[in-house]
Amino acid sequence: MKIGIDQISFATSNLYIDMAELANARKEAPGKYLIGIGQKKMAVLPPTQDSVTLAANAADQLLTPTNREQIDTILFASESGVDQSKSGAVYLQSLLNLPTHVRAVEIKQACYSATAALQLARGYIALHPDKKVLITASDIARYGLHTAGEPTQGGGAIAMIISRSPRILAIDDDSAVYTENIMDFWRPNYATEALVNGHYSGHMYVDFFNDVFSTYRKQTGLTLDQFAALAFHLPYTKMGFKALKSVLPQGKPETQQRLAANFAASHQYNQVVGNLYTGSLYLSLLSLLENATDLKAGDRIGLFSYGSGAVSEFYSGVLQAGFQTMLHTKQQHTKLTQRQKVSILAYEKLFQYQLPRDGSTIDLDTTQDPAKFVLAGIKAHQRQYQQH
Ligand code: HMG
Repeated sequence: MKIGIDQISFATSNLYIDMAELANARKEAPGKYLIGIGQKKMAVLPPTQDSVTLAANAADQLLTPTNREQIDTILFASESGVDQSKSGAVYLQSLLNLPTHVRAVEIKQACYSATAALQLARGYIALHPDKKVLITASDIARYGLHTAGEPTQGGGAIAMIISRSPRILAIDDDSAVYTENIMDFWRPNYATEALVNGHYSGHMYVDFFNDVFSTYRKQTGLTLDQFAALAFHLPYTKMGFKALKSVLPQGKPETQQRLAANFAASHQYNQVVGNLYTGSLYLSLLSLLENATDLKAGDRIGLFSYGSGAVSEFYSGVLQAGFQTMLHTKQQHTKLTQRQKVSILAYEKLFQYQLPRDGSTIDLDTTQDPAKFVLAGIKAHQRQYQQH
């Protein structure tokens, strides 16, 4: 039985900053951010968007009267959770009006957890072939103003429905995983911004990729030439390129050309949104599917997932006949090009704004946020979500 990604969608905020303007404000050469890091624009999140609203805005686009009844599990992958106890998935169940006969949980391991959710969902569907699993991967990446990590922030959510007979990507029944306890990036409970050993994290990312990719090749006997494309977790686009570059010499010249061209397609969306943490790999997959010119049914795509701390996995999937009909390329481009640019000053103010840390009551102005689901405030220590 084939199991995999049946539907996929994406949401981010309607605000962004221009990376050349950020570079100028930080007295850096624009080339460092645009080419060295490889980012053109960065999503800016207003206080009315959090990991729950972003996930709801992404998932809402996928729901139909039929699949609503088949979804019996919601896996909410995030490292920007809004509560230490209650899962974001429970909020999703009610915001999306999903049946109450559903299990709803949150799952965490830095940027890796959406891949864990996907693999767990595969096993679950194998036992319950008539069910579907809704996975959301939503985060807001924060390092702090004037830090080296600042140009690698961003935010948004991916939603996917995992089922048997998937209409987009059937996941192969093999993968290679590697876990090692390292301190490359983490966020203690008291911190609203991540702590990071930036250069070390980049080296670890490439080392982990080489480990799982060579294990995968040994396990399956597949060679680089058998992949139509590789999609990477993209904290910033240059990071994935460094990993790709490290294995390109293993392929024939035409493979190298194909993988490089498809890598360019796979980072178009990430380049104008920034890091989504859990959702980044899947935004890259969506960008690949919607922007590559030569992909066809039967093509094998390799996916590299990395979550600091660190857990990594390489797995692959095969494109299904008619996958193009499941995509919404035009709407995606419109959404991304119709966002509103904000000044660096406005971004800094939004970044510094914090909801009261003691749970005191607050009403947020939701009139400026065109998203369907918004955070309207806090009352009696409870987050108040609203649907526009
Ligand atoms: P930095 O130290 O300020 O930058 O921060 P740099 O000096 O290394 O320069 C960056 C690149 O720009 C270099 O290229 C420069 O040569 C180039 P590279 O050597 O890397 O190829 N450059 C220029 N290029 C063109 N024109 C110019 C120019 N000037 C310089 N004028 C760093 C960079 C990535 C370290 C920082 O942004 C950071 O700490 N980011 C956050 C950490 C991160 O994203 N790590 C990625 C791996 S870990 C991961 O992916 C997990 C994560 O998503 C979290 C999770 O799992 O939850 C982060």
